[in-house]
Amino acid sequence: MNKTLATTLSLLALSTLPVLADESGIEHGKKLHQQSCTACHGKMTGGDGSTLYTRSNRRVTSLPALNAQVRRCESNLELKWFDEDIKGVSEYLNAEYYKF
Ligand code: HEC
Repeated sequence: MNKTLATTLSLLALSTLPVLADESGIEHGKKLHQQSCTACHGKMTGGDGSTLYTRSNRRVTSLPALNAQVRRCESNLELKWFDEDIKGVSEYLNAEYYKF
């Protein structure tokens, strides 16, 4: 490998780092939520199921309760998410819908 190529490759590797870091937050949660959560909620409420989160009699009324409910639905499904995944999905739902 010549030197220029090596430099280019290492710069490339560096420049993708912030993208990866971003992935662990809200964006990551959004993807997971789309993959695993919208279909079933959608069957209940129609559409993409998001009205479940915004209806006036929604069950979740605080951030800890949101975390707990995400975990409850996740473990019912036996998805075996990491804590970071639970956190990302909670952050996404909070930013997008609950706004606690
Ligand atoms: C197999 C069906 C199903 C799947 C899949 C599912 N859920 Fe649920 N979810 C439910 C049911 C049922 C409720 C309770 C609705 C109620 O109380 O009226 C619910 C409620 C919720 C609520 C609370 C809504 C409120 O009232 O504030 C959240 C948050 C939630 N789910 C998150 C998730 C997440 C995150 C996932 C993906 C890991 C997920 N759910 C996947 C069935 C499902």
